[in-house]
Amino acid sequence: MKYYGLNELRKMFLDYFESKGHLVMNSFSLVPHNDNSLLLINSGMAPLKPYFTGQEVPPRTRVTTCQKCIRTGDLENVGKTARHGTFFEMLGNFSFGDYFKKESIPWAWEFLTEVIGLDPDRLYPSVYVDDDEAYAIWRDVMHIPEDRIFKFGKEDNFWEHGSGPCGPCTEIYYDRGEKYAKGDPADNVVGGDGDRYMEVWNVVFSQFDNDGHGHYSDLAQKNIDTGMGLERLAVAVQDVDSIFDVDTLQALRNKVCEIAGVEYHSSEKADVAIRVITDHARSATFMISDGIMPSNEGRGYVLRRLIRRAVRRRDAQRGTVSPAQS
Ligand code: ALA
Repeated sequence: MKYYGLNELRKMFLDYFESKGHLVMNSFSLVPHNDNSLLLINSGMAPLKPYFTGQEVPPRTRVTTCQKCIRTGDLENVGKTARHGTFFEMLGNFSFGDYFKKESIPWAWEFLTEVIGLDPDRLYPSVYVDDDEAYAIWRDVMHIPEDRIFKFGKEDNFWEHGSGPCGPCTEIYYDRGEKYAKGDPADNVVGGDGDRYMEVWNVVFSQFDNDGHGHYSDLAQKNIDTGMGLERLAVAVQDVDSIFDVDTLQALRNKVCEIAGVEYHSSEKADVAIRVITDHARSATFMISDGIMPSNEGRGYVLRRLIRRAVRRRDAQRGTVSPAQS
């Protein structure tokens, strides 16, 4: 497979969807606008919610973005797995009442296999257990053998984050190969927690509105909300161990090592600390550049907590404090 840098991959995605009639929009701020349901923008669709619900008219019914995101739900995994970070860039193609399943699935596949050049035999789709339509597209249109298409329940294949637009989704996993199957073999299966099979693409068939209390109503229109983690795609394309080894993040990681006077791969404990500091410094920088300041509440508290965790990792590394305190 050809090597591409993270910045090249971002451009390839946006160019591809521009060629399919999408308007390329800039990333929105990490600070949500007119949305009290979120402290921080956590996905490509979050700043676009009014276009999904029909509350506002989008500039075009097809939009593509690379959105800055913060997610702290998996904070404890950061630095320990190959794929978790509190800050990431999410590539997305969106349809507001325009195209739906039969266009979005082939485009996802074409981009991954023909534009990027991922080996189709290493890709495994999953669908929501009741979504016969998406299953039939994978089997009959994309000609993926049945034993390679996985059916998962709500936890894996129904996307929602708090209140707002949501729906069943189809995901694409990439098999990074045996060499990345660390830990429990039971985790290194499609849909498992291990790092061998990595989810790289999620297409949400966004057709419901969740009122935040588990009540769903039909949206006036059927939408597409796609999410692809740019750093994860780079891990697959560059065939590297973790997001901290992709070209751009590696430069930050090396700077952390240089300032700390620690060599990467000198010990697992130091490596975890280096990855945590790299991730948290990156998140804090983007949050501050979007106007967030450390404080005792709300998003300011998230920022303060990340800075504090990074500092504690540094101190733990120096042996002045236990990492358990972080
Ligand atoms: N909104 C979906 C996600 O974040 C695409 O995974």
